[in-house]
Amino acid sequence: MSEIAIDDVPAIAEEAMILLAQIKDRLQLDEFRVKYIGRKGVLKQAMTRIGELPAEKRASAGQLINQAYARVEAAFNAKQGELAAAPAAKVQYDVTLPGVRPSAGRPHVITQTIRELADIFGRMGFEVIDAPEVEDEWHNFVALNIPESHPARDPLDNFYIDDHRLLRSQTSTAQIRIMENRKPPVRVVHCGRCYRPDTIDATHHMMFHQIECLYVDRNVSMIDLKSTIEQFAHVYFDPGINIRLRPSYFPFTEPSAEVDMTCMICHGQGCKSCSGGWMELGGCGMVDPNVLEAVGYDSQEYSGFAFGLGIERMAMRRHRITDIRLFYENDLRFLRQF
Ligand code: FA5
Repeated sequence: MSEIAIDDVPAIAEEAMILLAQIKDRLQLDEFRVKYIGRKGVLKQAMTRIGELPAEKRASAGQLINQAYARVEAAFNAKQGELAAAPAAKVQYDVTLPGVRPSAGRPHVITQTIRELADIFGRMGFEVIDAPEVEDEWHNFVALNIPESHPARDPLDNFYIDDHRLLRSQTSTAQIRIMENRKPPVRVVHCGRCYRPDTIDATHHMMFHQIECLYVDRNVSMIDLKSTIEQFAHVYFDPGINIRLRPSYFPFTEPSAEVDMTCMICHGQGCKSCSGGWMELGGCGMVDPNVLEAVGYDSQEYSGFAFGLGIERMAMRRHRITDIRLFYENDLRFLRQF
C-alpha cells in the first residue's frame, strides 16, 4: 500500500459512515458489508498490505487502519440491529386481482366408478354394504362351498397373512358376511378390493376391485339374475348393450355362468379387443343350496342369485382404457382426465 493509500483510509471510513447512514434495508446493508468490512472489502485489503510498507511506518499504519475498521464495524453492527428491530415493510395487496385457485385434487377414477355403481344399484333397490378385506378361511372358502382340497385354496394362489387368514381373493366373501347376520330377503351390493398373486399385464393386477351383488328371497330365478345385470349394463354402459350368460363353474353357485356383454368397440361385429363380438364382465349364478345352508338359510324355502364383476375392467371399457396398470401408476396426466 502506498503512503497516499494509507492517508486515504480515514476518507474511505468517512465515506462508509455517510453511506451507512443512508442504508434502508438488509440487502443494501449486505452489499455495504461486502464492499467495506468483508474479507475482500477495502479496509481488510488495506490491512493485508501493511507488510509492503517500510518497517518504521508499519505500526502507525496498522493503528490507523484498525481504528478506521473498528469505527465502521461498530456503526455497521448498530445499523444491523436497527434494521432487525424495524417492522417488516408493509406489503401492498391489490384486492381486485383474480385469486389463484388452490388445486384440491379429485377422487381417483376407480373411486368415481365405485360411487357411480353404488348409485345405480342403489336406485335399483340394492343396499350398499361393507365387508372386510382380511378374511378367514371360513368366509373366503369353506362357507362358499370351496373344500380344503380345492386348488383355489393353494397358498401359491392367495395372499395368506398367517395360517388361517388371507387378503380376500374375491368379494363373494361379502355374501357370507351379510347372510350370517340377516334373515332373507337380502338384496345387497358390495364394492371392494381383492388380492390375487396373478401375473400383472394389461388386464390383470394383483390388487383389483370387484362389485358383488346378492339377492336372496323366495322364488328368485335366473330371469331375475339376467334382467338385473342387463338393466345395470344399459344404465352404466349403453342402452344398446346385449348381455349373454355362458355356462361355467363356480363352487358357490349352481348353475353358474360367465357374463359377457356386447363389445363396445366393434358393437358385436368381432375385433381384436373382444372374443367374437363379446367381452367378459364377470361371473354369476344361482346361490348354491350348500351356501344357503352354511349360513342357516332353508334352501327349500329360499333361493338367490349372485354375481361378481371386475370394476377396473368395467371402467376400462367405459373410458376406452387399454391397460389396467395405468390406474395404479399415479401418473397425474392420466388421472386428471377423469
Ligand atoms: C369371481 O371372482 C367370482 N367370485 C364371481 C362370482 C360372484 C361368481 C358371484 C358367481 C357368483 P372371477 O375369478 O372370474 O370370478 O372374477 C370376476 C371378475 O373379476 C373377472 O371377470 C375380472 O373382471 C375380474 N378379475 C379377476 N381377476 C382379476 C385380476 N387379476 N385383475 C383384474 N381384474 C380381475
